[in-house]
This record gives sequence, structure tokens and C-alpha cells, in this order.
Amino acid sequence: MSDRPRLTVIGTGYLGATHAVCMAELGFDVLGVDVVEQKVAALQSGQVPFFEPGLPELLRKNLDTGRLSFTTSFEEAGAFGDVHFLCVGTPQKKGEMAADMTYVDAAFRSLVPHLRDGALVVGKSTVPAGTAERLAAELERTATARDVELAWNPEFLREGFAVEDTLTPDRLVFGVRSERAEALLRAAFQPVLDLPTPVVVTDFATAQLVKVAANAFLATKISFINAMAEVCEVTGGDVKKLSEALSHDTRIGGRFLHAGLGFGGGCLPKDIRAFMARAGELGVDQALSFLREVDAINLRRRARMVDLARELIGGNFDGKRIGVLGAAFKPNSDDIRDSPALDVAATVQQQGGAVTVYDPQAMENARRVHPELSYADNAVEAARGADVVLHLTEWAEFRQMDPAHLESVVAVKNIVDGRNALDPQLWRDHGWTYRALGRP
Ligand code: UDX
Repeated sequence: MSDRPRLTVIGTGYLGATHAVCMAELGFDVLGVDVVEQKVAALQSGQVPFFEPGLPELLRKNLDTGRLSFTTSFEEAGAFGDVHFLCVGTPQKKGEMAADMTYVDAAFRSLVPHLRDGALVVGKSTVPAGTAERLAAELERTATARDVELAWNPEFLREGFAVEDTLTPDRLVFGVRSERAEALLRAAFQPVLDLPTPVVVTDFATAQLVKVAANAFLATKISFINAMAEVCEVTGGDVKKLSEALSHDTRIGGRFLHAGLGFGGGCLPKDIRAFMARAGELGVDQALSFLREVDAINLRRRARMVDLARELIGGNFDGKRIGVLGAAFKPNSDDIRDSPALDVAATVQQQGGAVTVYDPQAMENARRVHPELSYADNAVEAARGADVVLHLTEWAEFRQMDPAHLESVVAVKNIVDGRNALDPQLWRDHGWTYRALGRP
């Protein structure tokens, strides 16, 4: 092996595709692996199968250098790699809180027989405590190659900022059992470590926990401010001002303190549920029982949003038109997994409203999962004839929207700002009835 280990990245979803492209950008030879042939074909031809700012350009650049390629073959992956990153998904199990480990186990078992002597397998997926220990034991039992090892290196990237978070992370966490594994990981991240980037070297148990603990903390921070929004709603307080005042306390800080429709996406909701499920199995469910409340506060915001919209149009959705701005779980993403916006849109439709949705990037995904909703090509068309407009994902084009653009097309000038991202005064000055969560 030269100074620069050769890397494979197994699983080419949001995490894996970004990791593969960014590691090639950092100068490594990288082979991306996925069992879905269409994904591999798309990536190999320079197409990113999801929306992530900056990624398509870097993908094409690095395909051109010859440092990056993709395959469906684990045999090829085993022959190629010194370090193998496992980046497959761990979604919530159907009808349960726990994480579904099928993809991690399948990827691991497909790779192990093909490993070369001395290879390092690095778990990046978000997994229940105990997974790394279990996989390490399995590796020892089943690998035919000599001196192969496991390490854990959780990933903290945010969708929409995935490239930046991968190239310049806040920190790296290495869960290792040997100096050799640590040295290999250091070699695989050398350009990032040189920035410099803080690195925490620890055991498997801690490395796996860092990820779920970080997501649990972020979810708690969001639900904390959303709980304050509930209190503001009965006291007449303004949660946006409250949050601003809190944020000046540097011990608290302003990030992840934006009150609104709450968190969704492929990570936060399912990670706190899987964390609770695993804590229950380990007999420490009491330690995490507060996360049940974090989840409940979060879901209550969606219900409150529907109530607010209904109140505004006279107590009943029947025969009313509702314009919905936003479908993605957050801006700069086309991801609709557990999207608060789509959840609200579907509930309003179920309750008798005629809902028309527009999102700058998530239309295709939204249409597939919610074919019962109507879709428009732009914000103005979504708002046409609406009795109320719901602002549910704070894309820049909605935040910067001039109320005058919509007022000639809506039936009634009603807007509910589910993200506390519009300027209430501006909308009110244009004669709109503006309502928001946690604000008068
Ligand atoms: C999250 C973590 O931030 C990331 O570190 C981890 O690797 C994966 O999970 P992501 O799911 O991409 O990343 O989204 P994030 O930016 O964290 O937002 C999550 C949700 O919280 C979104 O629905 C967002 O709208 C909501 N949110 C965020 C709030 O409601 N208020 C806030 O103040 C911040």
C-alpha cells in the first residue's frame, strides 16, 4: 500500500455518494459500490440521483480525473480497497421504533469474503449500540483474509451542506481497537486532518453513541424551542423574539433554535426512536424517556399547523383550496422522508381540503408518495384560488417572495408561516392575515 490507501464506499445514497465523491476530490482513488444497478449507472455517467448542491460538479470532475468509479461488484471492491467505508442506510423498521439493520448486514456479508489481507472495514452508518462489536466478532469468525479489522467512524453530514460537511467536518471520530486501525484511518483522512480538524479517538461503544447522541441533542434543542412556542401561544409571547434573546447567551447559542413545524428527514426522527428502542433493550429506557416527549412535541407542531389553517378559513376544510409552499423536509434538499410539510399537506387533504403543492426540488419524490395531492409548477400556481397559503419549507425563493405576487391569484389573503421565516409586517402591510406558530 502506498501512503494513500485505496478506498471503497459501499452504499451510494446521500451519505455514500457524497463520501465517495469528496474522498476522490481529496485525492484518493475511490470505488463506489451499490447493489442498485441504475444508481451505479447514473453515478458512473455523471448523474447524481438526488438533489445536493455542489455534488454533481464534483462528481463529474472526479470521474474525469479517473480517480473515481462505481461498480455493483463486491469482488471488485474487495480486490480494490485497503479501506472500505460502509455507508448503507439504517431506516426505521416498519411498525417498530428500532432500526432496520438488513442493509448493513447484507453489505458487510457481501464484502467480507472478498477482503484482501490487511484491509480495514469502517462503519459509517448510524447504528444501534453494540453493532460494531457484533460485526467485529463476525469479521474475526468469517474472514479468510489475514489481519482484517473493523473500525467505526460516524458521519455527521447535513443534507444540503453535505459536500462542505464532508470536506471540512467539525470533527472526526475514530472508534478503533488497534493502533494499526487508527493509523489506517488517519491515512484515509490525512488531507482533512491537515486542515486541521479535531479528531477524537475512542472505543467502539463511544464512537457509535456519538452519532445518536448528537442527533438526540439537536432534536431536543428543536423540540425545546417548539415547546416554548406552545407556551407562547397561550401567553401571547413571541417565540421568535424569545429564541433571539436566548441565542445571545453563548452557553445556549442560536443554532437549531428555530421554532416552527419541527424536524423531519431521514435522520433525526428515526434516530431518536431507534435510540429509545435500543435503550429499552439495554435496560436503560428511563435514561432516554425524555426523547419520547421530544418526539411528541415535534409531532404536535404538525397538528397545530393543521388546526391553525383550519381556524383561519372558518373551521372547516371542506370545499376550500389550500396552497402549499414546500414539500421537502428542509430547504436545499429533495428529500421528503418524514417531511413535516408533506405530512401537513396530506392531513389537510384528508380532512377535506383541496391541496396544491409546489416545491423547487422535491416534486417528483412528493408525487410518487402522495399522488392524491395536486401539484403546481410554481408558487403562484400553487396559490391560485387558495383560501389559505401554507408556507411549510423555507426555501429562499419563498422567504424572498413579494406578497404582491400572490395577492392577485389567491381567493383570500390568508397565510400561515410554518417556518417563522417570512416577515409578518410585510405581509400584513399588504393586507394579508398572517399567522405563525408560537407568535401573536
Ligand atoms: C441531521 C444532522 O444535522 C446531521 O448532523 C446528521 O448527520 C443527519 O441528521 P439533516 O437530516 O440533513 O441532518 O437535517 P438538519 O439540518 O439537521 O435538519 C433536521 C430537521 O430539523 C429539518 O426538518 C429542519 O427543518 C429542522 N430544524 C432544524 C428545525 O425545525 N429547527 C432548527 O432550528 C433546525
